[in-house]
Amino acid sequence: MKKSQEWQRLGISDLPHIMPTAQRHRPPIKGTVWIITLISLISIFLIGVYIYPPRGYLSCYVFSGIGCKSISEWLPPSTPPVREYTDAEIAARGVIRDILQTPPIQTKTPKIAFMFLTPGPLPFEKLWDKFFDGHEGRFSVYVHASRETPVHLSRYFVNRDIHSEKVVWGKISMVDAERRLLGLAFQDPDNQHFVLLSDTCVPIHNFDYVYNYLMDTNMSFIDCYDDQGPHGSAGRYSEHMLPEVEYKDFRKGSQWFTMKRQHAMIVLSDSLYYEKFKLYCRPGMEGNRNCYSDEHYFQTLFHMMDPGGIANWSVTYVDWSERKWHPKAYRAQDCTYNLMKNITSIDESIHFTSDERQILMDRACTWNGMKRPCYLFARKFFPETLDILMHYLTNYATGRNIDPTVDY
Ligand SMILES: *[C@@H]1O[C@H](CO)[C@@H](O)[C@H](O)[C@H]1NC(C)=O
Ligand SMILES: *[C@@H]1O[C@H](CO)[C@@H](O)[C@H](O)[C@H]1NC(C)=O
Ligand SMILES: *[C@@H]1O[C@H](CO)[C@@H](O)[C@H](O)[C@H]1NC(C)=O
Repeated sequence: MKKSQEWQRLGISDLPHIMPTAQRHRPPIKGTVWIITLISLISIFLIGVYIYPPRGYLSCYVFSGIGCKSISEWLPPSTPPVREYTDAEIAARGVIRDILQTPPIQTKTPKIAFMFLTPGPLPFEKLWDKFFDGHEGRFSVYVHASRETPVHLSRYFVNRDIHSEKVVWGKISMVDAERRLLGLAFQDPDNQHFVLLSDTCVPIHNFDYVYNYLMDTNMSFIDCYDDQGPHGSAGRYSEHMLPEVEYKDFRKGSQWFTMKRQHAMIVLSDSLYYEKFKLYCRPGMEGNRNCYSDEHYFQTLFHMMDPGGIANWSVTYVDWSERKWHPKAYRAQDCTYNLMKNITSIDESIHFTSDERQILMDRACTWNGMKRPCYLFARKFFPETLDILMHYLTNYATGRNIDPTVDY
């Protein structure tokens, strides 16, 4: 009980004696201290009011003029209305959240899966062979040839064809083929990053650069932007996608992605959102609406589930500047050293909306927080460009640009 006695002595019981004494012999400086303290307290209070503006009835009396427009202001602060999720959504969101929070198992020999989605032969197999040469054990190749089984020239492509099905441009069969490739490549636990490529895609950097660029970041390079025009939400979104996919979440982007293992797992585990796109994002829907799942499904899914985990641009370059239905395809005479150098040095990604305003969205490509060239691959090239690209791959794609972390 010593302590409480001590408190009594020092505090409560002694206070009446101390106070009058102190007042009587108060030096003049004390008054100033009181005033300063009072002013400080008022200042702190006013700063607090400024930073956290008061709401409610009392504040309207005290601070008339600060947001006292209607009775609704006096009600408790409103939070944006939260939609009640369906059972299926609750389950899907729970699974996806857990996948994102579980780092993938680290294997001794992490590989990149190069997944080729092609109708038939691969005209640039020789180029890819040169690209892969000397990097055995750090990559794997998968080929989905939907029309005609290719005769392979490269040892890296022989016996790498997977079971394939017919693919119709713009239809869900395109997404099915992408999922089939992902599903098969996922079987190999060494595959940590997955790249989708077409028969007209070529590499524009050497293997080490590509490997480091994709493996030394937590990003998936999935193209994703908000286009409210006729070739975006306005012309392609269907309200049948409700409640799971809302208009505001509908996104667009190029189909050529790269994906980290966790994201591949999300794609493979998803049936809820996939079904929505399969049924309600297809060519020839009611009201002459044409939607293409391969340009919207992954884009919208990851925008909803992990917006910070995707880069929002594709690492596969394509030239849409002619504004035609198909992008520019390069002939042999187009493939100059300057063109290839230009493509490798672009460090801003550009998107146009399809409405009348044609808003340009121009963003710096940032890799682990640093501004870096955007592209690792490019399309579309005619087969006749093979020889000249073989020559350039040893020039523009080798040499200094080996480490993406170093700013040359
Ligand atoms: C990836 O994310 C993890 C966890 O958030 C972090 O520890 C790691 O440094 C990141 N890696 C890179 C290359 O950014
Ligand atoms: C991608 O865009 C979304 C918004 O649509 C944004 O939240 C996200 O941070 C962006 N990703 C990166 C890496 O900047
Ligand atoms: C390369 O870029 C420069 C500067 O942007 C441009 O003037 C030139 O026409 C480009 N060359 C090719 C072949 O694209």
